[in-house]
Amino acid sequence: MKVLEITGGKQLSGTIRISGAKNSSVALIPAAILADDNVTICNVPEITDTDALSEILMYLGAEVRRASESIVINPATIQNKEIPEEQAKKLRASYYFMGALLGKYKHVEMYFPGGCSIGQRPINLHLKGFEALGATVTNDGNKYIVDAKELKGANIYLDIASVGATINIMLAAVRAKGKTTIDNAAKEPEIVNVATFLNNMGAKISGAGTSEIRIEGVDSLKGCFHEVIPDRIEAGTYTIIGALIGNYLKVDNIIPEHIEALTSKLMEMGVELEIGSDYLIVNKPENYKAVNIKTLVYPGFATDLQQPFTVLLTQAKGKSSVIETIWENRFMHIPELNKMGANITVEGMEAKINGPTKLIGTDVEATDLRAGAAMVAAALKAEGTTRISNINHILRGYENIVEKLSDVGAKIELKEI
Ligand code: EPU
Repeated sequence: MKVLEITGGKQLSGTIRISGAKNSSVALIPAAILADDNVTICNVPEITDTDALSEILMYLGAEVRRASESIVINPATIQNKEIPEEQAKKLRASYYFMGALLGKYKHVEMYFPGGCSIGQRPINLHLKGFEALGATVTNDGNKYIVDAKELKGANIYLDIASVGATINIMLAAVRAKGKTTIDNAAKEPEIVNVATFLNNMGAKISGAGTSEIRIEGVDSLKGCFHEVIPDRIEAGTYTIIGALIGNYLKVDNIIPEHIEALTSKLMEMGVELEIGSDYLIVNKPENYKAVNIKTLVYPGFATDLQQPFTVLLTQAKGKSSVIETIWENRFMHIPELNKMGANITVEGMEAKINGPTKLIGTDVEATDLRAGAAMVAAALKAEGTTRISNINHILRGYENIVEKLSDVGAKIELKEI
């Protein structure tokens, strides 16, 4: 079993360079299928989620070459066959193969995707979108067959501004006949990044980043070169760690606007931040003020940062509150934090934090990806040594986490026990 062993109490100084965004890359890799020739995507993080998607592409017959931060995909040799359950279940984002294969071949057979157990995570809005474009969805247990004689543009209203459904519908609609509009579309930066990629391939998408996306279908898409945006969740995680134990810690290669909901909360807490054009510098303050947060769709406070942010709130004087509105099961980190000495109670979708409390190292579990990031943050702050198990979750989303933290002074080791 692999564990992360962290001895806390060290100050962190120096520079952490942020990698390309996981949640963009995991859509861009399947989206490459839509092109007729070579696609080069650079700044793709080397994490197990991007590896799993490359494996699915290769299973389908695509040529995939990894060269450091770049990935070159030649989709010309793809055969549209069923994606086995074992591969689909490795991660959530395997669902993007649905939109991409449907767009290109008008037919897809695959299984329900996997991913962190942070909620029920239905895909009804994705499927409703495909149906609105003219596809028929047949469901046999966990297997989905989505088929269309032809895809036709449609007006689609999303009941929830879902990131996955917005991207998946874009992937299918770029190859539909005529115009599609997606209303109440999600506005996350990853959606803009994917739309830019598709436009580089020759798609006609406008309005990405707003709640109305318009797509004019095209007959074919060509290869292109594209760059992944910096990972705002990785940037936010290291900024929170800097707020806990940073001494002039620079978080570099970021788009500060993407984490404004976080940085403004940090300032409200009394954290010292210097924000540059593509970096920030963070220092641990003497004391932290208690604050309340509520997770919201972008540009609100990102649910993916809620779990690491809770760790910081254990250090604030007084009562803080975290209300989670996106995922119904995203408080699995709380019992683990309480094991380390935190004083947090959960009532429904609200966590109430009483602080400040001293954190003490112990054995804890990374119950999901961002809960794992919270455990790393807590362990770095804690007195003594913490052993984090189930770290495969963390390795799915944080590139070179051990090296990045060691380089700025953390005592962190990946061990096989
Ligand atoms: N929802 C439905 N039906 C659907 C789709 C979504 O009811 O068909 C619900 C979900 O159950 C959830 C809400 O809508 O309650 C929002 O879900 P959304 O579809 O926006 O989430 P997602 O696309 O599955 C992505 C990220 C998540 C991130 C959310 C919200 C990827 C691969 N995942 O998930 O990232 O939390 O958007 O920003 O892009 C993470 O990186 O740790 C992570 C979980």
